[in-house]
Amino acid sequence: MKKKLEQIRKDAIKALKEASDSTTLEKLEKKYLGRKAELAKLSKDIKDLAQKERPLVGKLINDIKKDISAIIQEKRSGAGAEKKSAKFDHTLPGINPNVGHLHPITQFLEKIEDIFMKMGYEIVEGPELESQKYNFDLLNFPKDHPTRDIQDTFYVDKDDSQGRPYLLRTHTSNVQIHAMKTRKPPVRVLVPGRVFRNERTDAGHESTFYQCEALVIDENIRITDLIGTLEMFIKRLFGDDVNIRVRPHFYPFTEPSIDIDMSCLLCDGEGCAFCKKSGWIETLGAGMVHPNVLKNMKVDPNKYSGFAFGLGIDRLMMLYYQVDDIRLSYGGDLRFIEQF
Ligand code: FA5
Repeated sequence: MKKKLEQIRKDAIKALKEASDSTTLEKLEKKYLGRKAELAKLSKDIKDLAQKERPLVGKLINDIKKDISAIIQEKRSGAGAEKKSAKFDHTLPGINPNVGHLHPITQFLEKIEDIFMKMGYEIVEGPELESQKYNFDLLNFPKDHPTRDIQDTFYVDKDDSQGRPYLLRTHTSNVQIHAMKTRKPPVRVLVPGRVFRNERTDAGHESTFYQCEALVIDENIRITDLIGTLEMFIKRLFGDDVNIRVRPHFYPFTEPSIDIDMSCLLCDGEGCAFCKKSGWIETLGAGMVHPNVLKNMKVDPNKYSGFAFGLGIDRLMMLYYQVDDIRLSYGGDLRFIEQF
C-alpha cells in the first residue's frame, strides 16, 4: 500500500507541475483530492490493515494530500498573478477619482464665521421647523398683524399646543430667543441657517435661502456699535472700496431698525437685473433689540441693551463671486458648482 501511495504522490506532482491552466488544475484537484479519488478510497481501506500499520499509512495519506494541496495553491496564485500582471499596463495614465467640494454657499459662510469668530462671536444653530411663538410672537410681531405678511410663510400640517400650525422658519431671528434660554448677558452669538419664504423667485429672490443672524447684548450697547461692526465686517469681506448705505426700516423686534445696502459689485452701481437697476443690493436687516424682546428673553431692558442683524448670505455670496442669478445655487448644475 505504501508503494501505491508513493506512486500516487509522484504522479500527482508530475501532473500538477505540467498543468498550465486553471481548468487542468481543477480536474487534477478532483482526481487526487475529490471524494472519489484513489486517495479517498485507500483511506477507507486503512481499517483492514494491521493495527500498527494503520497510523503510519493514515499519516502518509494526509501528508500526500497536504503536498498536493500546497502545489495546487501555489499554482493558482502564480497563475492569477501572471494573468493580472500581464493585463496591467504601468504606462497607462491613472483614472482621476471625482472628488467633490463644499458648496459655494458653505465656503462663503465659513469666511463669514471666521470674521465673526475673530470678533469673539459664538456660533449657534436652531430649528428650521418652528412654532409661531418663536418665529413671530416672542419677537414682538403682534398677533394677526399685517407685519407677519412681510415674510410669506410655509405652514405645515402640524399644530402647536395652541392649535396653531408650525411653519418653516422665515428668518434666523427665531434663534435669538432660543439662544437666550440658556445664556445671560454679555452675549455675542452668530446663527447661520436655512430659511424659507413663499416667494415668486427671480434673479435675487429664492424661496429657500440662507441667513446669518447676529445678537449682541451687554451694558451700553449703542447703534454706533452696530453700524461700526457691520462696516468692519463688510470691509473685511469685500475690501475698503465697497460702499454701504444705511436706510431706516421697520422690524417689530428692533427699535430703531435699519436696512443696509451694498453697492452692486456686479454692475459697479450702474444698474442690472440683480440689483433691479438701482445700483444697490439690500444685504441685511438690523436694529437695536426691542425692549419687549429683551423682556421675552428675561433680560432687564433698563440694565442691558443690544443689537441684532440678519444677513442674506446668498446675496452676499453672489456679490463676492460675481454670480448674477440666485437660482444657480440651488439648480444642481455641476457646470456651476465646479467653478468654485
Ligand atoms: C429679516 O429676515 C430679519 N429677520 C433681519 C433682521 C435680523 C432684522 C435682526 C433686524 C434684526 P429681511 O426680510 O429683510 O429681514 O431679510 C434679511 C435679508 O435676507 C435681506 O436683506 C436679504 O439679503 C435676504 N433675503 C430676504 N428675502 C430673500 C429671498 N427671498 N431670497 C434671498 N435672500 C433674501
